Amino acid sequence: MNIAFQIPKPMDAHVHFREGKMLDLVVPHTARQFSRAVVMPNLSDPIFKLKQAESYHQQIIDVSGDGFEAFMTLYLTPDSVSQLAMWTPQHVVKAVKMYPKGATTNSDAGVSDLEAVFPVLEIMEVKNIPLLIHGEVSDEGVDVFDRERRWVDEGLEQIVKRFPKLRIVCEHITTQEAAAFVRESGENIGATITPQHLLHDRNVMLGNGIKPHWYCKPILKRKEDRDALLDLVVSDTGRVFAGTDSAPHTKNNKECDCGCAGVYSACSAVELYMTAMESVLDFEKESNQGIARRFLSENGPKFYQVSVSEEMMTIRKGETLIPNSFEVGKEVLIPIMAGESLGWKI
Ligand code: DOR
Ligand code: ZN
Repeated sequence: MNIAFQIPKPMDAHVHFREGKMLDLVVPHTARQFSRAVVMPNLSDPIFKLKQAESYHQQIIDVSGDGFEAFMTLYLTPDSVSQLAMWTPQHVVKAVKMYPKGATTNSDAGVSDLEAVFPVLEIMEVKNIPLLIHGEVSDEGVDVFDRERRWVDEGLEQIVKRFPKLRIVCEHITTQEAAAFVRESGENIGATITPQHLLHDRNVMLGNGIKPHWYCKPILKRKEDRDALLDLVVSDTGRVFAGTDSAPHTKNNKECDCGCAGVYSACSAVELYMTAMESVLDFEKESNQGIARRFLSENGPKFYQVSVSEEMMTIRKGETLIPNSFEVGKEVLIPIMAGESLGWKI
C-alpha cells in the first residue's frame, strides 16, 4: 500500500507552549507540522490581559519565525470585560478560554460562578469572539470519569440557551455525550479532539500498570466514548477539528507521587492523528483523504473564519519513530508513545 496525498499545512486549534526553555523546545515542533495554532493562556502567570498576550505572542514568533501564525487566547475571568472593551478583530487575541476553577493545570483563577462571567459572554457574542471551553465540572465530589458528562448537562446547555449566537469550541471532547451534543448543535458550535482520545481508551493508561504519559484532563474514557469520537470525525460535520492539547510537563513532574495532567504530542501530532483515523478510514479512498484534510487543515480555519494555509504538506505511508525523550535544560520531556513507531510520515 503506497498512499501519499497532499493537504494544506494543518491548524492545531489547541496547544500549550508554556514559557522559557520549554517554549523554545516545543514551538518548533508545532511549527514544523502546523501553519497556525491556537495558544492556551494557562501559564503560571495566566494571560488575563491583551498586553500580556501581545508580549507572549512576540516570544512565540521570535522562536517560530514568520511563517507560523499564533492565535492568542485570554484567560476568562469576570474582569475580562475591561479587556474585551478594548479588543478589535485585528488583535493577536482571537478567542477567550474558560477553565472551571480547579479543573486542570493553572486553573485556580478559573470560573467558579458561571453567571459572574455572563457580562463577558455578552460582549463576546456581540463582537463575534469565540469562547473555548474546558468542559468539565470541577466539583471533587463528582467522579473524575463523569466530569465532562455533567458539564454538558449543567454548564454547557445553560450557556448555549442564554447566548444562542455565541461561537463556542468544546475543547478536547472525550465522551459520547459531548460528541452527541456537538453533532446536534448548530453552525456556531465546534469541537476539538486530541490524538490521544482518538487513539485509545483508559485501558492503555490503567489496564496494565499506570502509564502517566497518557494521563491528561479530561481523562481518557471508555472504548464506547472513543468510538463515538471517531464516528464524529468520520461523519464529517465540518465543525470538528484537530486540537492536540499538547501539554508538556517535565518527566519529573509526570513520574512522581502526584503527576501533572498533560500529554506531549506536538512532535508527531499529524502522524498520531493519521494513525488514529486509519483505524476507521481506508486512506486508499480519496473521499477518506478528504475527511482527514478537512479535520486537520480546513475545519479549524473555517470555524475561526480565516483562510486555509496556502502551504501544502504531503502525508504518506512510511515509518515515523517517536523520540524517546527531549532535553529541556537540565530536565527531560517524554512524548506520548515515546520510542514507538507509527505507519505515517509527513
Ligand atoms: O491535561 C491537560 N493538561 N489538560 C488541560 O486542560 C491542561 C493541560 C496543561 O496545561 O497541562
Ligand atoms: Zn489544554
